Amino acid sequence: MTCSIHPSILSADFVNLEAELARISTADAVHVDVMDNHFVPNLTLGLPVVQRLQAVSPVPLDAHLMIADADRWAPLYADLGLASVTFHAEAATAPIKLARELRARGSKAGMALRPATAVEPYLDMLAELDMLLVMTVEPGFGGQSFLDVTLPKIRRARAAVDGSGAKVGIQVDGGISEATIERAAEAGADVFVAGSAVYGADDPGAAVEKLRGLARA
Ligand code: DX5
Ligand code: ZN
Repeated sequence: MTCSIHPSILSADFVNLEAELARISTADAVHVDVMDNHFVPNLTLGLPVVQRLQAVSPVPLDAHLMIADADRWAPLYADLGLASVTFHAEAATAPIKLARELRARGSKAGMALRPATAVEPYLDMLAELDMLLVMTVEPGFGGQSFLDVTLPKIRRARAAVDGSGAKVGIQVDGGISEATIERAAEAGADVFVAGSAVYGADDPGAAVEKLRGLARA
């Protein structure tokens, strides 16, 4: 199985973002957490900053939109030319239409599920997605502990993706570290977001490689 490591810039130094991107140039993509203080109780960055990150990043951008009214906002992120745009199922009124719109604008379409949101209602739309994000913490903050209660959902998502024949990455986000990544990989995840485990390390590039090795083991 392929394995991608996406460091989250949420744990990076926000006044030195260009330099922080350069420190993770061996990563497969950089995960950009957009929060609006409505969908989650935290505020990070929005379109103008993401546009600049897209202009200077050595690796593709993977936007994770933790924002309300995803139907309206997510297409604007796709218009920036991002590699992938992930909206939350709980924040979208018309997720199939929205996923198609993202693809039509040239981005990969991702859909995220909060820890307590079941995957089953969405299994019929897997072919509309390039990535399914199973949140492994409650979205909103970096540095939280991995929720083992999400492992069965990752397993069910993996079985459904394999059974459907659709090419959908299964991303996990929250509490991914050297201590937890193997559990998530064993359950079926193949795209791993890591914030504090990468940017909290002395050598973020080496941390990416270490995580990659553990996920593949
Ligand atoms: C949380 C964000 C995550 C966060 C992960 O809401 O979606 O991407 O940056 O941080 P860690 O890896 O520290 O849990
Ligand atoms: Zn995220």
